[in-house]
Amino acid sequence: MTPEQQRRQSQLAFAASRAELEVGSLAGCPLPLEQLLATRPGSPWVRRHFAGGLTADVYQLEASGRLWTLKRARHPCKVQNPDGQTSFLNEVQRRGELQALKRQADWHEALAGIVDTRYASYRQGLLLSPWIAGEAIAEWDERRLLQLFDTLLALLQLGFFEWDLCPGNLLDDGRIRLFDFGYMYRFDPLRDCNSNGLLTPQHHGAERFETRCYYAYLLRLEQERGQGAALAALELEKRIALECYQRLRSRLIKRGASASVLGWLGNIIGQWHTALRGGLDGLYLREAWRSHLSDLEDDLGGQTCTPLTLQRIGWLQQCLQECGAQLQRLELLAGRTPDAWRAELEQALVKAHQWQVGG
Ligand SMILES: Nc1ncnc2c1ncn2[C@@H]1O[C@H](COP(=O)(O)OP(=O)(O)OP(=O)(O)O)[C@@H](O)[C@H]1O
Ligand SMILES: [Mg+2]
Repeated sequence: MTPEQQRRQSQLAFAASRAELEVGSLAGCPLPLEQLLATRPGSPWVRRHFAGGLTADVYQLEASGRLWTLKRARHPCKVQNPDGQTSFLNEVQRRGELQALKRQADWHEALAGIVDTRYASYRQGLLLSPWIAGEAIAEWDERRLLQLFDTLLALLQLGFFEWDLCPGNLLDDGRIRLFDFGYMYRFDPLRDCNSNGLLTPQHHGAERFETRCYYAYLLRLEQERGQGAALAALELEKRIALECYQRLRSRLIKRGASASVLGWLGNIIGQWHTALRGGLDGLYLREAWRSHLSDLEDDLGGQTCTPLTLQRIGWLQQCLQECGAQLQRLELLAGRTPDAWRAELEQALVKAHQWQVGG
């Protein structure tokens, strides 16, 4: 079994058992449990209701003179695969571990971008956090990227791998905040590339952010401000990612990481370094192709597509049309002909229309 299969199996077994998992205590709750459980969109203590989440219903509550976020698990979750079905359990597991680390003086500041958990219960399907009075990130600038990569550095060192760094899971209230841990899995940073051991080295912390978020932002920059602006934004992000990975690598060396992990990280660092010195065009093409394709596969795999899925397909089709030969030279076509790719993207487009998810 792969590490991911093992994790899935033990989470499904936990879900099938009667075991409870709680974070914090009810004594620390601003509202009694019965009231939290009885929460409906029209309850007097509800300020706002977000029905758009795939795993949960999210409410903004007011109690004890401040705002809270109540997340109620959806049964069943709208994501049609085992990871989707166990994502609420997974979130409660990660919240417990992260909350314990946040209380340690050594990690308190480094994990300040991770939302606090006041109370969570897996069996009751509820999770209570302070409300983050922030906004979605429409423009990435240096401060935002630095803060995000600082949080990533802490998480990776501590063995937390966040797969779903999408725009809907990030808020900015002066600091970049993470608050959705449905697809954050544990791994051993000294021995593994990610939560799938050494099996999928193409996935790493920066890659997850680029795939789920940054290349979608760059796609928009390309359309609105042209290729030059998109390349400049990639350069800014890569400088920050490079610095982050250099720090990560030297910390992992001190802790005795394996040669495979250090070699793998060294390789990524080397590629970025070369591209930053010699021009980012090739890296942009390779990573944008990889990002749009990988995100498309995720969306189709979970049968959860959005208008962005359609835009990504449009980008891939146009890229195939205009840069087919270069894609072939960079060995990005996985041994298939451009015609085979064209047919596959056509099919993807039909499915992506069929599987659009609303609220
Ligand atoms: N602590 C918080 N403060 C402010 N807003 C929040 C908070 N937690 C969640 N939200 C809002 O609710 C939305 C859905 O929350 P979250 O991502 O945790 O749910 P989800 O069902 O797991 O979503 P999905 O499966 O679609 O990623 C977020 O995009 C955000 O707008
Ligand atoms: Mg989310």
